[in-house]
Amino acid sequence: MSSVSDVPSQAVSQSRQPLLLIDRDKFRQNFNKQNFILSHRLCGNPLFSLPRIIELARDTALSRPDDIYYDSGVTDLNERWGTSPSSFPVDETIRRIETAGAWIAIKRAEHDPAYAKLLADCMSDILEVGGHELERNMRYKKVDVFVTSPKRVTTYHIDSESGFLLQIAGSKEISLFRSDDREVLPEEEIEQFWTVDRNAPRYRPHLQHHADQLTLEPGMGVHIPINAPHWVQNGNNISISVSINYHCLASERANIYRVNYYLRNKLGVSPTPPFRSPARDFVKRSVGSIYQTLRGKPDAYA
Ligand SMILES: [Fe+2]
Repeated sequence: MSSVSDVPSQAVSQSRQPLLLIDRDKFRQNFNKQNFILSHRLCGNPLFSLPRIIELARDTALSRPDDIYYDSGVTDLNERWGTSPSSFPVDETIRRIETAGAWIAIKRAEHDPAYAKLLADCMSDILEVGGHELERNMRYKKVDVFVTSPKRVTTYHIDSESGFLLQIAGSKEISLFRSDDREVLPEEEIEQFWTVDRNAPRYRPHLQHHADQLTLEPGMGVHIPINAPHWVQNGNNISISVSINYHCLASERANIYRVNYYLRNKLGVSPTPPFRSPARDFVKRSVGSIYQTLRGKPDAYA
C-alpha cells in the first residue's frame, strides 16, 4: 500500500506521451483565476472501467471510509451534502448506477499505487506547462474519482482544492462561476466555509447568468480554480470523471478567512478581505495558524 508521500513529484519520462494536453498561454493567463478547457488521454484507461472503480470503492470503504461519499435522489441544488444517504453499500450502489440516481465520490484514490502513478504523471504534465515553481504552493496532491447516475445533479459548492476535472465517460454540463464574484459568493460565505461549514455557499438562481456553462465530453477537462463555485447537471448517461487536484499552502487564504470569520461574528467588525493588505494578511495568517494548532488541526493542508 503506498501513501501520498510516495507520489513522485516530477517523474516524467521523456518517452511518455503527456496525459494532459494544456495550452501553455491559456494556463499562464488563467490558472487559479478563471476556468479553462483542456483535453486528456485518459479515456479507455482500465483504471476507469466500472469493475476497477467498484474494486477501488470497496477497498476505500474498508480502509478509509471517510474518503467515500455517496448519496442518491438529490435534486435540489442547495441540498446539504450528507442528507440523502443511499440505502446500499457503495459497491452495490455503483452496480445499480444506471437507476440509483446516485453521486459517488471516491477521494484520495492515490492510496492505490496504480492511481498514485496516474496522479504523478498528470501532475508532471501540469508542472511541465505551468512551470515547476508552482509545486512550492502544492501542499497535498490527490486524485478523486466520481461516478454519477444519468440525469443526476452535483449540488452547488466550492472546493478547498485547485483542480482539473477530467471527463472520462458520458457527458455533462457544468456551470462555473468566478471565484472573485462577490455577488455570487459573498466574503461571509467563504469565511464560514473555511471555518465552520463546508456547505455554507448558497446557490442564487437569479445569478445563474454569471456562470460559464460548459459541456464536458469524454476526452475534455476543465480547470476549476480554488473556491470557484460550480454545479453539474449530468446527461442521459452514466458519467465517470476524475479530478486531479491539490491543496494550496494553508497560509495562502484559509487562515486569513478564519480570522475574518471571528472578527465579523465575535467582534462585530467588517474585516478587510484577503490580499488587499499584506501587513494585515501577515498577522491574520499567523493568528489563524496558531488557532488551528490549538484546535489540534495544524495546517497539514487547508
Ligand atoms: Fe467540485
